[in-house]
Amino acid sequence: MNVGLKTQILPVDEVALAAAARCLADGGLVAFPTETVYGLGADANNPAAIARLYQAKGRPSFNPLIAHVFDLEAAQRIGRFDPAALRLAEAFWPGPLTLVMPKVIDCTVADLATAGLDTVAVRVPVHKVARQILRAFAGPVVAPSANLSGHVSPTNASHVSSDLAGRIDLIIDGGPVEVGVESTIVGCLEAPMLLRPGGVPREQIERVLGHPLRQPTLDAESDTSQPLAPGMLASHYAPRSRLRLSAENIEPGEALLAFGPSLPPGADGARAVMNLSARRDLTEAAANLFGYLRALDARAARAIAVMPIPQDGLGEAINDRLRRAAMGRE
Ligand code: TXA
Ligand code: MG
Repeated sequence: MNVGLKTQILPVDEVALAAAARCLADGGLVAFPTETVYGLGADANNPAAIARLYQAKGRPSFNPLIAHVFDLEAAQRIGRFDPAALRLAEAFWPGPLTLVMPKVIDCTVADLATAGLDTVAVRVPVHKVARQILRAFAGPVVAPSANLSGHVSPTNASHVSSDLAGRIDLIIDGGPVEVGVESTIVGCLEAPMLLRPGGVPREQIERVLGHPLRQPTLDAESDTSQPLAPGMLASHYAPRSRLRLSAENIEPGEALLAFGPSLPPGADGARAVMNLSARRDLTEAAANLFGYLRALDARAARAIAVMPIPQDGLGEAINDRLRRAAMGRE
């Protein structure tokens, strides 16, 4: 294991950015902010670095990783864009959208990072620090969320260090992230398919495409030849406490994850209350989601009761993560 490493934590400045690029080039593991969540980066072309990355996260299986690149041109050196993929890249990059595409023939991304698939997930982040690191490193960087496997994704540097201190080389502290849920993943192999709801709402993607996204199905009889995002079946976001969704009342001993201006009956007796957005703003709610889940989980409540969240816009990604958290650990 990597346990026992000395993990450096640096605030963002020129020195830190150069150190990050150097560390990646040396096969090291660097956590850095993106607009969605903090990522744990490794050189996408270096299998040994990627093996260390899986080990540091304690990922039980080799779930494929997203390759982060500086721009569309760099993305085209990795993945084969069809017209829909190109349209989506032009509309939403840089930003919280990941595209899954066939690898180009001479794709340099290590097989370990793509779990042996002949497809690759690519994203061009918009966060300034992520972009500076990608430019300085000048190559693709694979970066899963910078949390231990089974924990919620980190939305600030202290979440990262509480999960990964001693297991990785460097953490670049760029403050809290803006979006708060991971990127939307769209499979562009045949008809574009929503593999994971995320930071770009489905409605915006469908507006650019001019038609609805296909929905992945677990039905073995289905005619789709597109693989699911392999990691989507696992319970990735499980807090220790049980989650009770769409709660209309609060039971004794429960903590409350609220949404909106009025709290349900029993809220007065809650062990702790955190409101994702008192003004019912889904963008604010997404940004608060993982941090509040971590905070409430630390209160050792009987359960975390979660008020209903609307399904539109970022609500789809929020509800997706809450459902996964509620499934508990395997
Ligand atoms: O916002 C994000 O996407 C963050 C930041 C750090 O960029 N990253 C992130 O990575 O969420 P991770 O590893 O936690 O999730 C990546 C997801 C997994 O569910 C994985 O199965 C899927 O992407 N994925 C990766 N490559 C794939 C491929 N070739 N085909 C289908 N799904 C793939
Ligand atoms: Mg993750």
